Amino acid sequence: MRKVITYGTFDLIHRGHINILKRAKALGDYLVVGLSTDEFNAVKGKTCYYTYEERKYILDAIKYVDEVIPEKDWKQKAEDIQTQNVQVFVMGNDWEGKFDELKEHCEVIYLSRTEGISTTKVKADLKDF
Ligand code: CTP
Repeated sequence: MRKVITYGTFDLIHRGHINILKRAKALGDYLVVGLSTDEFNAVKGKTCYYTYEERKYILDAIKYVDEVIPEKDWKQKAEDIQTQNVQVFVMGNDWEGKFDELKEHCEVIYLSRTEGISTTKVKADLKDF
């Protein structure tokens, strides 16, 4: 079995999220999503509309997602790859080059972001709705 892992906040799920999850799953047989906890978001200075449990509940219902694990800090990725027996690490290309050190553990693939959509944009647009 080829296991794929990706990470993110996945607040206010939009088509860019679905698009990357779909392409990530297509690279293997089993997709694990490392989902930022509310505490980790606070460290990053990020505030979510939905709580971790709500974001996990939504992600778990997406057909491309096989498992959701908490992402609690910046350093856990190499450990997750080893403990989860992951072959492919995937991120959007806004992170291009940032995780190249993981290449010693597995394949690292940066996928193109979907143009014109982000959680930040949805939040900004809704202010004028
Ligand atoms: N992503 C994508 N295309 C988009 C938006 C996000 O491919 N238009 C990808 C990111 O590259 C990342 C994953 O989805 O690999 C999770 O991104 P996340 O930061 O949760 O979503 P954003 O919409 O970028 O959120 P924000 O605006 O808060 O940064």
